[in-house]
Amino acid sequence: MTMKAVQCLEYGDPKNLVVRDLPDPVPGPRDAIIAVEAVGLGYVDGLNVRGAYQVKRPLPFIPGSELAGTVIAVGSEAPQDLVGKRVMALAERGALCEKAVVFAAQCTPLPEKFSSVAAAAALVNYSTAIYGFETCGHLQPGETVLVLGASGGVGMAAIDVARGMGATVVAAASSDERLAACVKAGADLTVNYSGPDWRKTLEAVLDGRRLTVIYDPVGGQWSETAFRCLAPGGRHLVVGFAGGEIPKIPLNLPLLKRASIVGVDWGGHVRAEAGAAAVIFQRMIELVNGGRINPQPSATFALEETPALLTRMLNRENIGKPVVAIGKAV
Ligand SMILES: NC(=O)c1ccc[n+]([C@@H]2O[C@H](COP(=O)([O-])OP(=O)(O)OC[C@H]3O[C@@H](n4cnc5c(N)ncnc54)[C@H](OP(=O)(O)O)[C@@H]3O)[C@@H](O)[C@H]2O)c1
Repeated sequence: MTMKAVQCLEYGDPKNLVVRDLPDPVPGPRDAIIAVEAVGLGYVDGLNVRGAYQVKRPLPFIPGSELAGTVIAVGSEAPQDLVGKRVMALAERGALCEKAVVFAAQCTPLPEKFSSVAAAAALVNYSTAIYGFETCGHLQPGETVLVLGASGGVGMAAIDVARGMGATVVAAASSDERLAACVKAGADLTVNYSGPDWRKTLEAVLDGRRLTVIYDPVGGQWSETAFRCLAPGGRHLVVGFAGGEIPKIPLNLPLLKRASIVGVDWGGHVRAEAGAAAVIFQRMIELVNGGRINPQPSATFALEETPALLTRMLNRENIGKPVVAIGKAV
């Protein structure tokens, strides 16, 4: 039997990805095979295809690393009662295919209320936001949060999680169209950070509010400008560098503000602490069930559309969190 999969045969432009039939995967003793229904895509997937991410996947590989679907088989040492369950899972061996191999221990069963498409949209970005705001940022209700790169997948999840935790959310993005998408996602206030004077615009938007938390997946020149607007005692959460440049913030700034710069590496956190991913996934499900967050994809795509989609993400043309829907995606 065969299944359809996207494959990267050489590092480079995502347009060179191929969609082809591959033999059905066979589970190892601790594996589960998932009939994939939805795959969430992020900026990092494009970097992987380019061979530009810090950890290179050996060629050939199936891109994508977060999915939701139904378990159709498990290995001899995996819990047999997983079969038939709808789950979300990290898929380090590739997600953009009809049948994916994952570690059974990484499968989290989904409640009925949490669709596969929503779970695939949420897995990495909502985990990162929950870990970032709750564990690293100690965000409290009533605080004001600035989300940089707010119209991307990571940014939109941050808007929803911060709002769900009772914060006032200021979304920063580079165009009116992007800012309108942020408002739709729940942002209270917006700032266009495309011009050189965006600090003044931000201060006007803040209108005396104390900015106490910055969520920063962009880096570059935006980080220092934002940090300079942070209130004393604030926290700058470093999430990523989609802008391409790693900023160097002078250390007198955190000293003078008695402020913290905190690294948010969700992947590193779950690799370092057994069971950490499950704790965050359960927290995510609790927030979904309680109606406090509402993960949604910005749009759904077919497997064949992946090469063009990843190219758009690398070219800064994407808005929100795209999900590839496969089979009977619910
Ligand atoms: N720390 C963690 O645990 C963790 C987890 C997941 C992802 N990340 C990182 O978070 C970052 C964002 O990922 P994402 O999936 O949200 O990406 P995305 O959907 O492509 O969004 C990135 C946003 O950054 C802004 N941007 C500014 N300069 C850019 C450039 N040169 N190229 C592309 N975008 C640019 C864009 O908004 P504007 O045009 O409005 O500026 C865009 O909306 C990545 O660096 C990723 O590796 C970190």
